[in-house]
Amino acid sequence: MADFSSYKHIVVLTGAGISASAGLRTYRGPDGLWNDPEVAKLNDAFAMAKRRDEVAAMFWKFRRAIAATQPTAAHRALAAFEEKLPAGAELTIITQNIDGLHQAAGNRRVCEYHGSLARWRCDVCKGELSPSPDSETPPTHCNETMRPSVVAFGEMIPVDAERTAKVALRDCDLFVAIGTSGTVSPASSFVRWAALNGAMRVLMNLEIFDGARSEFTYCYEGKADDLVPQFFR
Ligand code: APR
Repeated sequence: MADFSSYKHIVVLTGAGISASAGLRTYRGPDGLWNDPEVAKLNDAFAMAKRRDEVAAMFWKFRRAIAATQPTAAHRALAAFEEKLPAGAELTIITQNIDGLHQAAGNRRVCEYHGSLARWRCDVCKGELSPSPDSETPPTHCNETMRPSVVAFGEMIPVDAERTAKVALRDCDLFVAIGTSGTVSPASSFVRWAALNGAMRVLMNLEIFDGARSEFTYCYEGKADDLVPQFFR
């Protein structure tokens, strides 16, 4: 079994699969959120602009569902691993998830590549708030329904997140992808960026998706809660 403790610049890319055992649905596969066309068509730039109230209601429902969850064993293992890192070593988590569970588990270096449902933005004054999920209805501001600070299809990755990801991948010597289907870019190309550095590349996923065996050095099929604590210890 690969020993991760000798690596200095570790990048972990996570997807919806790492939060599945917390009770949050993934996007694709059986019971995936996007299997429901009514939901899928509310997650793009057009809907964000033209169907704001429906979009906000959908994402607010997700926000409240997330508020009722706890970090999983996999989240906690990554946090404990970061805590024990020797001086000079770093672990950067680049997450596609908008649930904030890595930070809730205690990880410090977390890049929210697709934004976060904890933050909501006002289109009028451009202000950003972290509304309490106790409210039954989505937040409003300047007499308008706010939007979640997440990246919908057709929207740009936030500049800070883009930069953080690029710098972390430029230096990484170990790249680990956990619980992602590798279908959405630019995150799906990170493994190739890591390969440019000659980094060791490991996939941990319930299913090994097409093409993964030629992109990753090692592929481990299984649940994140079983695999992650074994490797990150
Ligand atoms: N442990 C490990 N992997 C799991 C588990 C589990 N318990 N449960 C599911 N998986 C795997 C599935 O096999 C699948 O390959 O997690 C992956 C989840 O894939 P998606 O649902 O496509 O989620 P993700 O890859 O995060 O999606 C990327 O797409 O819809 C957009 O913006 C959204 O960030 C999201 C992006």
